[in-house]
Amino acid sequence: VRAVIIAIDGPAASGKGTLARKLADHFGLPHLDTGLLYRATARALIDAGERLDDAASAVAAARGLALTEFDEARLRGRAMGEAASVVAAIPAVRATLAAAQRGFALRPEGAVLDGRDIGTVICPEADVKIFVTASPQTRAQRRALELAGRDEPADYAAILEDIRIRDERDSTRAIAPLRAAPDAHALDTTALDVEGAFAAALRFVPAGR
Ligand code: C5P
Repeated sequence: VRAVIIAIDGPAASGKGTLARKLADHFGLPHLDTGLLYRATARALIDAGERLDDAASAVAAARGLALTEFDEARLRGRAMGEAASVVAAIPAVRATLAAAQRGFALRPEGAVLDGRDIGTVICPEADVKIFVTASPQTRAQRRALELAGRDEPADYAAILEDIRIRDERDSTRAIAPLRAAPDAHALDTTALDVEGAFAAALRFVPAGR
């Protein structure tokens, strides 16, 4: 059998990252959290004192990323998610990062990728596509817990507002907006815990994989 590609998309804090990691572990596949690429691009610009909306600097920053070496501690915070969604709206940045993501997906052993446009743009040929959603309130609660776990100030109302702003920016941008592929399985995790979401997702993967 050809190596399997699993594409997982969804909005911020929907549970897609946790689900992607669990599926990758289960099937022994390499996993790429593509949000980290946009976060690392934004981080590099901020560290260099450049503007987030300077396309030429942003492309240079994207080209300079090493796919496997992310200092997640410096990328996971609220501010970097917001900054990432600004650089993610620059077409030339997306084109640069798309090449790296496709290279990862086409590894002979297969791959799990999670992001916003994996099933629609990066891997339209993926074997399994899952579009993960959850209510904004549930996502804000999860993000607040996650931030508290990292000792970041986590005000629920501010997080809910962040999520609304990021949803709006990611779904309405001209290029590769957040959207379910026509052939994606919808998975609403509002009422599911991590194990429940994983069990539901496993049913979308054909037997024999
Ligand atoms: O998923 P995460 O919150 O880490 O993503 C940060 C931002 O990066 C998103 O809000 C989105 O704007 C952008 N992104 C994207 N396409 C992806 C992954 C992330 O545009 N495939």
